Amino acid sequence: MKIAIIGQGGHSKVVRDVIKAMGDAEIVGCLDDKFSAEFFHEQIMYGPVDSAIRISEDFPEVKFFVAVGNNRVRKQIVERLGFPEEFYATLIHPTAQVSADSMIGPGSVVMPCVVVNSDALLGAHVIINTCSVVEHDSKIEDFVHISPNATLTGNVTVREGAQVGASATVIPGREIGEWAMVGAGATVIHNIPANSTAVGVPAIVKIREVTGGV
Ligand SMILES: CC(C)(COP(=O)(O)OP(=O)(O)OC[C@H]1O[C@@H](n2cnc3c(N)ncnc32)[C@H](O)[C@@H]1OP(=O)(O)O)[C@@H](O)C(=O)NCCC(=O)NCCS
Repeated sequence: MKIAIIGQGGHSKVVRDVIKAMGDAEIVGCLDDKFSAEFFHEQIMYGPVDSAIRISEDFPEVKFFVAVGNNRVRKQIVERLGFPEEFYATLIHPTAQVSADSMIGPGSVVMPCVVVNSDALLGAHVIINTCSVVEHDSKIEDFVHISPNATLTGNVTVREGAQVGASATVIPGREIGEWAMVGAGATVIHNIPANSTAVGVPAIVKIREVTGGV
């Protein structure tokens, strides 16, 4: 599989390592609006984000991956490109344990040492970060970020664009609302409303505004 990575920040470095570890994938393009023009270096094409449109027309075999950690910015880029979902690669690190009875959407990445258990449903452009656990029957909508070492116990729902912070835990059956942020180390025992930030053990809503997540 040939892949063009969109975004050249910190998250993209980790995504690049996942692609290398997969063994059957090759990076052919690195796109970011910090590049004003297209150029080649060591057989990889560099250029602005909109070069993706030309690449998709000239090289239909190339898949794309938006490797931007910020959930809102990731969504903006996906909307701007307007590609059908089959244009995007799904990346799974070989050390991840992913149940055959789970589903992972296009443009999503499953990082090293993650566990995704039975009947978990993961949407598009989702980040399941290093060593996190998505237990059985959990539902993760598009543009979500489950941060390193976070645990979603069984039957948890995470709505679009929300972020569960590093080492946070969500107990069974709870829901994290759209674009909500769960702070690092929190333990969620109640549903978290959309667009709010919840922190602590147990997690309480601290900030009722959108943070966007990082
Ligand atoms: C929750 C979070 C988003 C809040 O960030 P913020 O909006 O900049 O908020 P502030 O740092 O101004 O803190 C606001 C208040 O919440 C408290 N707070 C912030 N994060 C907290 C956390 N994780 N746990 C407990 N309390 C926290 C602060 O102490 C402060 O309390 P105060 O008002 O009593 O002084 C951030 O602290 C956090 O935990 N981010 C997780 C990042 C992460 O895991 N990233 C993974 C990248 S791969």
